[in-house]
Amino acid sequence: MSNKKKILLLPGDGIGHEITPATRRVIDWFQSTGRANFEITNGLIGGSSYDAHGTPLTDDTLAQAKASDAVLLACIGGPKWDAIPFELRPERGLLKIRKEMGLFANLRPALVFDALADASSLKSEFVKGLDIMIIRELIGGLYFGQPRGIEDAPGGRRGYNTMTYSTPEIERVARVGFELARKRNKKLCSVDKANVLETSIVWREDITKLHAAEYSDVELSHMYVDACAMHLARAPRDFDVIVTENMFGDILSDLASTLSGSLGMLPSASLGAADANGHQCAIYEPVHGSAPDITGKGIANPLAMILSFAMMMRYSFDMTDNADLVEQAVQNVLKAGVRTADIAEKGQKPVSTDDMADSVVKELGLIAG
Ligand code: IPM
Ligand code: MG
Repeated sequence: MSNKKKILLLPGDGIGHEITPATRRVIDWFQSTGRANFEITNGLIGGSSYDAHGTPLTDDTLAQAKASDAVLLACIGGPKWDAIPFELRPERGLLKIRKEMGLFANLRPALVFDALADASSLKSEFVKGLDIMIIRELIGGLYFGQPRGIEDAPGGRRGYNTMTYSTPEIERVARVGFELARKRNKKLCSVDKANVLETSIVWREDITKLHAAEYSDVELSHMYVDACAMHLARAPRDFDVIVTENMFGDILSDLASTLSGSLGMLPSASLGAADANGHQCAIYEPVHGSAPDITGKGIANPLAMILSFAMMMRYSFDMTDNADLVEQAVQNVLKAGVRTADIAEKGQKPVSTDDMADSVVKELGLIAG
């Protein structure tokens, strides 16, 4: 393979320093078997960048991220940085890199692996076979709206944020939703709060118009975010593709992830628009956080990051066969009963982060033929 892909690896904080080397073994397997050709560089983000450079994201790392074909990020944050000024916190680094790279579409699948149906918070009969995709708008809404701030006010202080959504912002993320729905079961549910918020009124009307103009082959439904939360917790398999704004997507995707049995299993992709040369910025990262409670113990589940790497090969590199291989290997390893502590069931002795990666690599060797 000659077409070399540049990957920037950002381990971030906490268990990021454990799941990244584990994932690296899977990446290296593809490299060493000649199935892919990657050029890999490493960088800092979050608390580790703050410790080294006094900022959670340096201009240099940002430039490297923009120049790469894709970024693979582990997770950021931890109690160590709780007391530092708000604008220097690890989360600001993550929000800045998303914004600066223009990653407006955040794809968060929630799926139940057959072998894990019993690990879900719901009875297995409600979640078996669950496979939904939440598309969260990632660089607009309350997270970024201006003005924002905290000011003195009678009786104390006043904090304020602004939520805005404009037609182009809505249409570009809605398109991602419709296109994905077309590739799946042609069902898209748009989630908003149009009974209360002006942003949601515009959101709903613009998506309805776009649907009529370009995507009438897809079945479009609308749902209020509170009803959606209830429905997700009760009958998640009724959903297929969901598209929603930033804050709602943050909350709903956490809810959806618990349905799958373990947060430690879920990958995500954050995608920008392709430029004139066809280059599209992208970050792939687990949905889970940096897990300070288990950091340093070598027991974190590396599968969400390994599956994020699979998503990278699928969405950024068009390496469908390779992505399928990783996902199949993960399925098989789980089926064989290999479990890290977070997904171990009664009678199963949990394996370490490294052993889980080992099992995946071994399985790859077996099924690749
Ligand atoms: C997520 C996280 C982030 C977010 C935090 C860490 C800033 O919760 O990716 O869902 O709110 O977007
Ligand atoms: Mg979140």
